[in-house]
Amino acid sequence: MKALRAGRAGRGLALATISMAWLLPLRAQTAAPSAAACLACHSQPGIADGQGRNLTIAPASFAASVHGALGCPACHADIQGFPHKLPVAKVDCAKCHAGEGAKLKTSVHRIWRAASLRLVMRNLDSPACLNCHGNPHAIVPVNNPRSPVYPLNLPRTCGACHGNPQLAKKYGLPNVYSMYVDSIHGMALTRDGLLVAATCTSCHGAHQILSHNNPRSPTFRARVPATCGKCHAGIAAKYLRGAHGQALRAGVASAPVCISCHTAHSIASVRTTAWQLHTTAQCGGCHSQRLATYRDTFHGQVTALGFAVTARCWNCHRAHEILPASNPKSSIAPANLPATCGQCHGQVPRGFISYNPHADPRNRRRFPGLYYTARFMNLLLLGVFTFFGIHTVLWFSRSISERTAKRGRT
Ligand code: HEC
Ligand code: HEC
Ligand code: HEC
Ligand code: HEC
Ligand code: HEC
Ligand code: HEC
Ligand code: HEC
Ligand code: HEC
Ligand code: HEC
Ligand code: HEC
Ligand code: HEC
Repeated sequence: MKALRAGRAGRGLALATISMAWLLPLRAQTAAPSAAACLACHSQPGIADGQGRNLTIAPASFAASVHGALGCPACHADIQGFPHKLPVAKVDCAKCHAGEGAKLKTSVHRIWRAASLRLVMRNLDSPACLNCHGNPHAIVPVNNPRSPVYPLNLPRTCGACHGNPQLAKKYGLPNVYSMYVDSIHGMALTRDGLLVAATCTSCHGAHQILSHNNPRSPTFRARVPATCGKCHAGIAAKYLRGAHGQALRAGVASAPVCISCHTAHSIASVRTTAWQLHTTAQCGGCHSQRLATYRDTFHGQVTALGFAVTARCWNCHRAHEILPASNPKSSIAPANLPATCGQCHGQVPRGFISYNPHADPRNRRRFPGLYYTARFMNLLLLGVFTFFGIHTVLWFSRSISERTAKRGRT
């Protein structure tokens, strides 16, 4: 009590407005002061420290918080009464939440990182608990719609940094937030409030976020199908049965994963023409020979003009369960072609499917008939042009000589 009075006298003005109510509960508990004892001063509007920092805490929101029942000293263990021994110790959330603390420490967001073998550096840009969980005196359960980590609020919470152009530039990262909010997942979440749409933590986790270069990260290339497959299970299964999934499993570095065709943060509806045209080119980026022959055909010419109503790669090959022609289950296995082409051409006669959508007149080995026909047509064309070219030149010189002869006669 004496110490309290002395402290109070020492701080004179700052406490002059504080009521005497705090004395009562504080006297009752000398060892572990209750929240009420602390709040007697700290609920006062205008209470501030020497630097003018606002130290007011709303008692109602503290009482309603997840930590309301714990009281103040559970976190501020070093503060036993007033006056406080300044500076007060920093609160360590990991004291009780050891799991979250340990995960954060080993994540990309770790606050301390080794600058060299000896030197350890503080990264001030990295988020600590409060960057994501907000006001320490008003923390609500994570499934409460007011929590900053509630799915609908989370993109904005991560976006405080990952939507900041300066930070993006400093760390060489893309401005992920703006890409995400315009994506199909972002729109579903922020516009429609669809809780099952993917938010940042669905793909990255919350505390142990790792770089996509880390093989343990859910965003590591080889793990992406499983990460998307948490929600798109049917598609992931088809993908893994298909040639691309098989190639990925076999360790083929160039095998496409979900984000090769859909991107990670700018995922668009597959029904938009822009996406369909872009993806056709994307398939062609890896299968360039096939794109070239496709472009030569009727289907490809229509696509090249900017229309997407015609057959695109995946109309014949499927999008995810893509299999080589030699596999009897493949959509392009000879026995399945009538059904595949028939999706758009209806009942087709047997002859129709002999039309090869990738016919390459430059390939003699695979398409001898086409090759020689094309050669013959080219030779014929050349012959016709040569014949008529010579014919024209001779005709011209003859007409000139005839004219000069006529002039000489007159
Ligand atoms: C008699 C009023 C009073 C009581 C009771 C009181 N405080 Fe304070 N507290 C203050 C004042 C005034 C400051 C400003 C710093 C200073 O002058 O010591 C402060 C500062 C603080 C700070 C911030 C220090 C800083 O600047 O970062 C914390 C944390 C704090 N109090 C926690 C508590 C807790 C926990 C209790 C209950 C055990 C408590 N206070 C009880 C008046 C009080
Ligand atoms: C869940 C832990 C926790 C509990 C419980 C808690 N605090 Fe804090 N408090 C913090 C953290 C974290 C800070 C931010 C400063 C820091 O990191 O040390 C803080 C800061 C403060 C400050 C400084 C002003 C500010 O907002 O930065 C005051 C004053 C304070 N607490 C008072 C109290 C009082 C009074 C109670 C009880 C009613 C209480 N705290 C309960 C975690 C807690
Ligand atoms: C980068 C943002 C971020 C940081 C930093 C962060 N959290 Fe979390 N935390 C979350 C999200 C998001 C959730 C929601 C649960 C989820 O998605 O797994 C969560 C959930 C929790 C939970 C509920 C239990 C659980 O795991 O679901 C606790 C407790 C928790 N965090 C404590 C902490 C503590 C303590 C720290 C600091 C050591 C911390 N968090 C740092 C984002 C963060
Ligand atoms: C003295 C121990 C203690 C300290 C220190 C502590 N917490 Fe807690 N925290 C708890 C308890 C107990 C719960 C309630 C758990 C429950 O309801 O299942 C809780 C719950 C939470 C939750 C909600 C979890 C959920 O399931 O929704 C979050 C988030 C959280 N704490 C974050 C923090 C943060 C951030 C800090 C540091 C500012 C912190 N805690 C400091 C003990 C503590
Ligand atoms: C307080 C700012 C801040 C907040 C909030 C924040 N981050 Fe970060 N994040 C960073 C910084 C800074 C880095 C770069 C760390 C480094 O490389 O040293 C980073 C890195 C990352 C990376 C790794 C990038 C890489 O190198 O591959 C991912 C992924 C990431 N954050 C996701 C998230 C998610 C998801 C959330 C929300 C749950 C979040 N961040 C919240 C600051 C923040
Ligand atoms: C649908 C899954 C998914 C969602 C939702 C998602 N990410 Fe990502 N994110 C990824 C994948 C996969 C990568 C790795 C990209 C790569 O390999 O090029 C990544 C990469 C990143 C990177 C590193 C970028 C780089 O090029 O190094 C950051 C930062 C990041 N994400 C932050 C976020 C934030 C913040 C959110 C929420 C606003 C978010 N992500 C939402 C899947 C997702
Ligand atoms: C080789 C490129 C490619 C890869 C790899 C790929 N997709 Fe697709 N995806 C497509 C195409 C093309 C469509 C459009 C299908 C259509 O319009 O019929 C599509 C459609 C979708 C759809 C819309 C639903 C539907 O079937 O029409 C979802 C969801 C989807 N993909 C998720 C995934 C997931 C998850 C993965 C990874 C397991 C993945 N995709 C891998 C090309 C790809
Ligand atoms: C947390 C669950 C979840 C995760 C994880 C997830 N998605 Fe989705 N995704 C959804 C939901 C829900 C929709 C439907 C949104 C709508 O229709 O508004 C959707 C829609 C899509 C669509 C659009 C389908 C269409 O009809 O056009 C594509 C493409 C897609 N997701 C790809 C991916 C890819 C690629 C990944 C991994 C990088 C992924 N998703 C991860 C839940 C998820
Ligand atoms: C990132 C590069 C990449 C992209 C993009 C890509 N593929 Fe592939 N594709 C591969 C690889 C690698 C294989 C496996 C080849 C192997 O095992 O020899 C493959 C196999 C195939 C096969 C089976 C043929 C065979 O030789 O086994 C077909 C058909 C196919 N892809 C069609 C497509 C279609 C259609 C698209 C677009 C929707 C597409 N690919 C996009 C790399 C790609
Ligand atoms: C109209 C249907 C159709 C379209 C459109 C189409 N293909 Fe094909 N594709 C086939 C048929 C039929 C075969 C098998 C005959 C052959 O090997 O030439 C085939 C073969 C392939 C093969 C080799 C498969 C194997 O088993 O070796 C690849 C790779 C391929 N196509 C990629 C593509 C790509 C990439 C596109 C888009 C740029 C595309 N296809 C567009 C019907 C189509
Ligand atoms: C997604 C729908 C679709 C699929 C699947 C498809 N086509 Fe087509 N195809 C078209 C369209 C649209 C045209 C343009 C028809 C028109 O307007 O004359 C066309 C035109 C053609 C033409 C030239 C015009 C004609 O009708 O004679 C041939 C030949 C052809 N397709 C063969 C095939 C073969 C063979 C397959 C199967 C390997 C196939 N198509 C699969 C949509 C499709």
